[in-house]
Amino acid sequence: MVQATFHEPVLAAEIIAFLVRKPGVYVDGTLGGGGHSLAMLHALVDAGFHEGSLLIGIDQDEAALREAHEKLKEFDAHVILVKGNFEDIEGLITRVCSDKGLKPKAVGILLDLGVSSFQIDTAERGFSYLREGPLDMRMDIDAPLCAGDIVNSYDEKELARLFYRYGEEPRSRSIARAIVAYRQKNGSISRTQELASIIRDNAHGGERVIKTLSRVFQALRIEVNAELDVLRRALDDGIDCLDEHGRMAVISYHSLEDRIVKKVFAEKARSDWGPKGVGLREPLAWGTVAPVTRKPLLATPQEIELNSRARSAKLRVIEKICHGGCSECQ
Ligand SMILES: C[S@@+](CC[C@H](N)C(=O)[O-])C[C@H]1O[C@@H](n2cnc3c(N)ncnc32)[C@H](O)[C@@H]1O
Repeated sequence: MVQATFHEPVLAAEIIAFLVRKPGVYVDGTLGGGGHSLAMLHALVDAGFHEGSLLIGIDQDEAALREAHEKLKEFDAHVILVKGNFEDIEGLITRVCSDKGLKPKAVGILLDLGVSSFQIDTAERGFSYLREGPLDMRMDIDAPLCAGDIVNSYDEKELARLFYRYGEEPRSRSIARAIVAYRQKNGSISRTQELASIIRDNAHGGERVIKTLSRVFQALRIEVNAELDVLRRALDDGIDCLDEHGRMAVISYHSLEDRIVKKVFAEKARSDWGPKGVGLREPLAWGTVAPVTRKPLLATPQEIELNSRARSAKLRVIEKICHGGCSECQ
């Protein structure tokens, strides 16, 4: 088994600066190896906020939960780790908070999207075209659908649409055609390297092969884990779970994710002024959040040099608006 190492948290200093501002309930919806959680817990202690704080760590991957459990041991009294999908963020927060007798509202929520280095580097998980393994790609190993099911059961049109939609792959059609032809000749495709060699044989040479490989693998991973659908729901419901002045920070790693984050944040910030020309003095409904970062924040060249994963990271942060009634505003 390939020994994978756990994950350096990306933009950790920025996450702490934006999120850790008072005691309360913090939610790390993408716990991974617990890197960001550990940094937030240390920051809560340094600021003297830990006594009134609880960090809820959510991940759908049991291996990540085990690793994070070890890493966060010293903060046991202030941490609850739960296996779950962040699409159920509201239910998970409500359940943990009601068990603890706390109001189910968070002062900070973090989503650090995608897969961890640990998942990518573990060959048996099948996420990487660089490692020989089964075509799996499930973050939650109890989930019903794996990448092999898709590659072996979708027809040519469905595969082409998938590679185009979730991989933005220009050669989606010819890759899909090659996969179906291979299936007809050889029965099925079960290993990452088998799929990678079909893609290599049908992609343009040089640099572009690598891009095509990563786009096709990305598309399959997104489909297996329904990543974009669950993200929309987690953003909507997560914002509902924020306390007044609570903040949500989201780190995305590709344009499909970032587009959704940008759109949902913009929609939630907009007030509803009704049909044009009505001339209301107050909107029908106020926006519920305000942007904290106007533009997405990127990692510094120094961080990218130390951690190549940071290269594509984009951080967006919003704050829940209080319309005047909370204790902080009075
Ligand atoms: C980029 S890693 C997070 C790394 C973490 N911030 C750290 O510092 O170690 C993303 C993690 O989120 C988890 N994840 C992704 N989508 C999820 C979802 N919909 N629900 C729950 N966990 C998810 C993955 O299993 C993975 O462990």
